[in-house]
Amino acid sequence: MRRIGSVRAIGAVAIVSLLAAGLIATAQAQPKPGGVAAGSPGSPYKPVQSLHHMMEGQNKLLKEIKAGIIDKALKDAMVSAWILAEISNSNQYQNEDPAYRELAVRVSQQCVELAQTLKKGDEKAAMTQLNAVGQTCGACHDKFKKD
Ligand code: HEC
Repeated sequence: MRRIGSVRAIGAVAIVSLLAAGLIATAQAQPKPGGVAAGSPGSPYKPVQSLHHMMEGQNKLLKEIKAGIIDKALKDAMVSAWILAEISNSNQYQNEDPAYRELAVRVSQQCVELAQTLKKGDEKAAMTQLNAVGQTCGACHDKFKKD
């Protein structure tokens, strides 16, 4: 009986510790004074990553889509196309210039169409659309990327 009692006691301590850890985690998730929690109603949208990281991600996804089409892994290519559509949608908030935003939105829309083509399984059309996406990437680089 004593043994069972101490096992129960250990169990109770474990539960209390877990609850305490949960409370601390919740407290840490609260926005800092003066800050705004991501996704708060009415807060302006702000990408979480720098432009540089966003571009590296876009590049990775573009390569994945191409590899997926070549390897006939169209489902994988479609998933990457949807992610690229979302990242590019977010890219418009990296710059206030309307021309920048228009090009970012264009890439996003082209990727939505590409994802839909990949779902249908039309590899040839998908490759043509992928090239068009690449051209829009390039159009923005010509105008906004200084090197
Ligand atoms: C609306 C504008 C815009 C679009 C669209 C765009 N980019 Fe970029 N990209 C930029 C800018 C601006 C830079 C320069 C970033 C810097 O100076 O840090 C850049 C840089 C890059 C770089 C170099 C890494 C770096 O940060 O210097 C890569 C790779 C890249 N982009 C890939 C892509 C790919 C792939 C696409 C299309 C799927 C794309 N970009 C679409 C604006 C754009």
